[in-house]
Amino acid sequence: MQSFLDILQKPTVFADRNVMSPHFVPESLPFREKHIERIMSCMSPALQGIRPRNLFIYGKTGTGKTACVRRVTGKFEALGTRARVVYLNCRTYNSRYKVMQKALKGLVPDVEKTGFGMTYFYEKMLDWVQDGNGRFLVLVLDEVDMVKDLDELIYSLTRSNDEVSKGGVSLIGISNNLSFKDKLDPRSKSSLFETELMFETYNAAQLEKILADRAATGFKPGAVQQSALSLTAAASAQETGDARYALKLLLRAGEIAEESNLDPKALPQVTDKEVELARKSIDGELAKDAIRTLPRHQQLVLLAVANLTLNGSRNKYQRLGDSQGADENLLSGEVFDEYCHLCREYSLEPKTSRWHREYLLDLEMLGLLALTESSKGFRGHTRFVKLGFPAADIVGIIRKNLESNEVGREISEVEG
Ligand SMILES: Nc1ncnc2c1ncn2[C@@H]1O[C@H](COP(=O)(O)OP(=O)(O)OP(=O)(O)O)[C@@H](O)[C@H]1O
Ligand SMILES: [Mg+2]
Repeated sequence: MQSFLDILQKPTVFADRNVMSPHFVPESLPFREKHIERIMSCMSPALQGIRPRNLFIYGKTGTGKTACVRRVTGKFEALGTRARVVYLNCRTYNSRYKVMQKALKGLVPDVEKTGFGMTYFYEKMLDWVQDGNGRFLVLVLDEVDMVKDLDELIYSLTRSNDEVSKGGVSLIGISNNLSFKDKLDPRSKSSLFETELMFETYNAAQLEKILADRAATGFKPGAVQQSALSLTAAASAQETGDARYALKLLLRAGEIAEESNLDPKALPQVTDKEVELARKSIDGELAKDAIRTLPRHQQLVLLAVANLTLNGSRNKYQRLGDSQGADENLLSGEVFDEYCHLCREYSLEPKTSRWHREYLLDLEMLGLLALTESSKGFRGHTRFVKLGFPAADIVGIIRKNLESNEVGREISEVEG
């Protein structure tokens, strides 16, 4: 048996594993110099006693929004002026009450944990703002779309500015999801979107530079082959242009290199092979998360596809007779039959075939399966269905999901 010492002395690819964590904010953020400058110039009036305009930052996931804002707020705080910045992630602070309470705790230490109403928080905030010659609060709300009563929150914050003659409160909202915008009251919308800043996705060359910078301090010299770095960047650019995904992929490739290293004296190496394996492992995890949150009938359609892929069709004569991949291409009609069969197994009323078609399209959007149209003349007009992930894994995940009551309840809520 290995001792703890053996395990601790195993050769590692990492020089500093923390550097590869998604929460690590690097000193330099290449390709974002202009964005950082915009955020700084937006906040700078507060340092001269002028209320900054509100700023709204948006862009797809992993484009560096949080990292850039954290970088700037760090610098701002270091100035130690009468202007303060408070950063909150609204995934945790998801209501007006929670945001106000948390923001004030950062400003006024005697604000207790619970037991105070909004009026108390509001008055405390006005007191803080009007102290001395007036103070400025820049409230950063990351993932701002998660706030349930955002209209009310924006209203409270902007109203406070009307009530004070000196000092003020400004907002920086961040989001990767713009659909909440349409639900906002026009007044809060124009207030939150006073100034806007967009973060574009990264291309392969940009991701490669970001990865190389991070690997230079995160990994030991020579542990990551250049071609592995390029492959990680290319794969991530092809997926989404998401730097978080790219870093996660490289971290996982490093872990795989360590695990599969058999020579205790040699430095493990991250090569293309480890990147490919890491990609499969991460994509599998992402698919698992996607499946878990699917509504029940969509899970059943996916399960139907996986069952048929695994066990073959119930109606063998219906199978497509091409020589390659004949076992994987299913007819949408037979998937529907299997889905109805599964509904009965789970005591559910099957949805109509029109819904079934919608579900197939949704599942394709999520990358869980692929659809191709049949050529004209083959059984009129039909679709071929092919699973995107190993059938046995999918069956395992969904069966487990459907058998847990917890998930069943959650799903029926979503379905209304
Ligand atoms: N230009 C960059 N240079 C170096 N690292 C970067 C850059 N952009 C993003 N990153 C890194 O990528 C990861 C994701 O970035 P970040 O968390 O800022 O994304 P985000 O835009 O806030 O995404 P989300 O919308 O999902 O919250 C972090 O580890 C961050 O340090
Ligand atoms: Mg973020």
